[in-house]
Amino acid sequence: MASDKWCVEKRGVVGNESVGGEIGGVAETGCLSIVVLGASGDLAKKKTFPALFNLYRQGFLKSNDVHIFGYARTKIALDELRDRIRGYLSPEKENPESVSNFLQLIKYICGGYDSEEGFQSLDKAISEHEVSKNSTEGSSRRLFYLALPPSVYPSVCRMIKLYCTNKSDLGGWTRIIVEKPFGRDLATAEELSAQIGELFDEPEIYRIDHYLGKELVQNLLVLRFANRFFLPLWNRDNIDSVQIVFREDFGTEGRGGYFDQYGIIRDIIQNHLLQVFCLVAMEKPISLKPEHIRDEKVKVLQSVNPIKDEEVVLGQYEGYRDDPTVPKNSNTPTFATMVLRIHNERWEGVPFILKAGKALNSRKAEIRIQFKEVPGDIFRCQKQGRNEFVIRLQPSEAMYMKLTVKQPGLEMSTVQSELDLSYRQRYQGVTIPEAYERLILDTIKGDQQHFVRRDELKVAWEIFTPILQRIDKGELKPRAYKSGSRGPAEADDLLKRVGYAQTHGYIWIPPTL
Ligand code: BG6
Repeated sequence: MASDKWCVEKRGVVGNESVGGEIGGVAETGCLSIVVLGASGDLAKKKTFPALFNLYRQGFLKSNDVHIFGYARTKIALDELRDRIRGYLSPEKENPESVSNFLQLIKYICGGYDSEEGFQSLDKAISEHEVSKNSTEGSSRRLFYLALPPSVYPSVCRMIKLYCTNKSDLGGWTRIIVEKPFGRDLATAEELSAQIGELFDEPEIYRIDHYLGKELVQNLLVLRFANRFFLPLWNRDNIDSVQIVFREDFGTEGRGGYFDQYGIIRDIIQNHLLQVFCLVAMEKPISLKPEHIRDEKVKVLQSVNPIKDEEVVLGQYEGYRDDPTVPKNSNTPTFATMVLRIHNERWEGVPFILKAGKALNSRKAEIRIQFKEVPGDIFRCQKQGRNEFVIRLQPSEAMYMKLTVKQPGLEMSTVQSELDLSYRQRYQGVTIPEAYERLILDTIKGDQQHFVRRDELKVAWEIFTPILQRIDKGELKPRAYKSGSRGPAEADDLLKRVGYAQTHGYIWIPPTL
């Protein structure tokens, strides 16, 4: 398949003037130390180490210049940590040694998250590694992945800054990866941003939203701005509504204690769905430079009107409060449907319906763009259903266009069908990388396009803080819904009220190979 310039540039980091391994004068080659803080925790085991392993397997992390340091409070022997991680790595048939070789790259340092001693030992270990690799000036690259609760971000960042930022005089860079939740509302998020911002500059901070690493989310920019098809249609004249939907068919499962403090809006909508919303709704950036793209995301967020109470339906599945870690009187929503309205020339009047729920009847994430009816319709298309363009983010990644065609045969009748680009069928043999894999690689390369900028985060909280405060005060209450259902019936009523026309009698079935 032809590889175009954009793809080639992408590998060399789009928009950052990558010259001979240097990005904006910053070294992108040389000794690389990856530090996983919270190395014995769940996120590290399930996501961070497996992503690093996959990068290693594919040759993106080379044994001769990479070292991985696990850091945590837990007192465990290195072999025990390696054994714990091993269980989450899938060895390749063709290279069964790869898991053991990868695990050999890992060292472990035990220390507290505000312990000077701990971070001094960490720095010593990193420096020894750099010296052993005969690192030259400008070649020390230190990546700190904070697989930790945000409450310790400020102290950990302070320790990193004080004790681990290139004391070896090798120069190079330090980058910090942090993961949501970035605060609980506007004030707490701003406080956290200010604390981290005092220590590190924005180009050093990588706020991960793993939805930005998903294949079809990354495709949105290409799809929208590289195809003539979509350019004239992508506006209020043609589009009737947009839905961005996240559904899970399981409940909070052992995470009830965490989840209850946040709820579905903070857990999924304010970050994952809102990032997808930005990419669907933003204007065309002037270039592919990360700052140009992020500028457009901020602009569209700033154009969102305050959310109206009557355009919100909250739900809580029956049985949620049976979890012993959840308070018996919890008011936390496990489901929400809410309408965002954008006040600008392109989107005035078009409802953007953001919907997320746990313990529903299916697991999927998709974007559903419904078009307006055909004016002067002579085929009764209206009765059968409107055109829809659906981007299935997961599972079974696909894009399909639901359209009306002539029913094959002698009769002149119409039927709903689809133009279907199903990835598994179209790209057979291609492995779609895990979101974390891509995002860690982007961090190593210094490409911030798929990370959330501080001002983006601020506007995201500005949109949701008023409604969240009302929920926290108990002024808005979730409706009970049955586990394994579609969620509260009122959510479907809201959809209808804002104009969404459900197609009956048609269902897209992902093709099987
Ligand atoms: C996380 C949420 O950010 O995303 C979880 O905290 C959720 O509650 C998960 O289950 C979903 O991620 P994915 O990639 O499986 O859709």
